Amino acid sequence: MATLTIRRGASTQQITFTPPQPLDALLHQTGLAPSRPCGGQGSCGKCAVLLTGDVSESNAAERKAGVRLSCQAVLLGDAAVILPEDAEPVQIETGTDGCLTPLRPMPGRYGAAIDVGTTTLALRLYDLHSGVCLSSAAMRNPQTAVAADVIGRIGAALKGDGPALQAAVTQALDMMLCTAAARAEIPPEEVASLVVTGNTTMLYLLTGRNPYALSRAPFEADCLFGTEGTLLGRRCFLPDCLHAFVGADTSCAILAVGMPDRAETALLLDVGTNGEIALWHGGRLYIASTAAGPAFEGAGISCGCGSIPGAIDRVDADGGALLIHTIGGKEAVGLCGSGLVDAVAALLETGAIDETGAMEDGDYTLAPGVTLTQKDVRAVQLAKAAIAAGTACVLSAAGCREADVARVYIAGGFGSHLRLDKAAAIGLLPPALADKAHAVGNAALDGAALLLADTALRHRLKALQIAAQHVRLDGSPLFSQRYVEEMLFGEG
Ligand code: FES
Repeated sequence: MATLTIRRGASTQQITFTPPQPLDALLHQTGLAPSRPCGGQGSCGKCAVLLTGDVSESNAAERKAGVRLSCQAVLLGDAAVILPEDAEPVQIETGTDGCLTPLRPMPGRYGAAIDVGTTTLALRLYDLHSGVCLSSAAMRNPQTAVAADVIGRIGAALKGDGPALQAAVTQALDMMLCTAAARAEIPPEEVASLVVTGNTTMLYLLTGRNPYALSRAPFEADCLFGTEGTLLGRRCFLPDCLHAFVGADTSCAILAVGMPDRAETALLLDVGTNGEIALWHGGRLYIASTAAGPAFEGAGISCGCGSIPGAIDRVDADGGALLIHTIGGKEAVGLCGSGLVDAVAALLETGAIDETGAMEDGDYTLAPGVTLTQKDVRAVQLAKAAIAAGTACVLSAAGCREADVARVYIAGGFGSHLRLDKAAAIGLLPPALADKAHAVGNAALDGAALLLADTALRHRLKALQIAAQHVRLDGSPLFSQRYVEEMLFGEG
């Protein structure tokens, strides 16, 4: 007997089988088989998966598609497959009605903007002549199987797993590119140009660089990118990172929301596994990063999951009871980041969680099989304290008060679903800033798309990189003090 490990989003399951077995047949048994628009002929490319282990060589159809196809692959022994998620975990928004203005585009008829997030990967495919967004694709970063956060990934790379991490993300991007091309009904080889953004660690691992410099004080990156090279056989621009832990995802988001284009003071928060904070004040850019942990991405908590159908994404207190909402109105399967924030806010309101975060009556069952535990609440406290204290330190370093901030941009997939009143209720955002905040979706991907359409914007990123002032949070007495204070749940 052999074992097939199947991953989709945050969920993993294993089935045993007698090899050889067609992959498709086994996936059908579990109800997880991708749709087969071409009836399993190997011609549409829409059943692409990420497959490793003891499996058949790629056949002609798979070589043509450039990916493993679940309708073609045969399992010869133990194997693992990663399936694209039903609901794309990253909200795909352009803010420009899906269209770019191709002023000085990268070469070729088609190009892709890609965001390599610590937890999720997102891609948009563009016609570089018209600027139209043709399709998109998203999936969980397969490197999450190794470690949830950047520190764990750096550690794994330093122990020799760098090539495996690089291969995993490269294969995943290839699969997404082929999926997006199939959705747009164009041959993947006609996609000539890429802009791949991501945090500094993700770009190190993608390009196979040794991340030693990111792992040791003074934590200065020995490469901040802003370079063009080749990836997946295509021309690829890797945008400038701002610092070892404030990456190209932040610089691209700053570009996309246009912070340097306005005189007003603005704050950008990317609340991901690594919380990144950027403040534009008095014509200067102040940046910081803080380890928020993966809780807000639905990871590392007992019933956490991505933004998949059935994820609890909204919780409201109604008297002593809780009103639960799930994505797609499906039976609850877990708790995604926004649901986690809501659940804690609601239980604070009902008194089931006190100001210190203690759950007097123990774990709380939100729905059958979905429980919020004391450990989960502690993870939320750690994450929100890191973001709130980091924000306070950046404002202090710039000599800026909360009242001076005209606008707060909440970037990232999590921010798209976050309800700002709930974020304020748990103290993730001070109430004074929550009033000025709005979600800007995957602004990093928006910025990457802008760079695809206009190569002249590269010099603006370089200028941001040179001018950015990094605010150190490690060893900062103010950060330590605020972190302890922010662990408590205030009045909100
Ligand atoms: S179902 Fe069309 S390629 Fe597999």
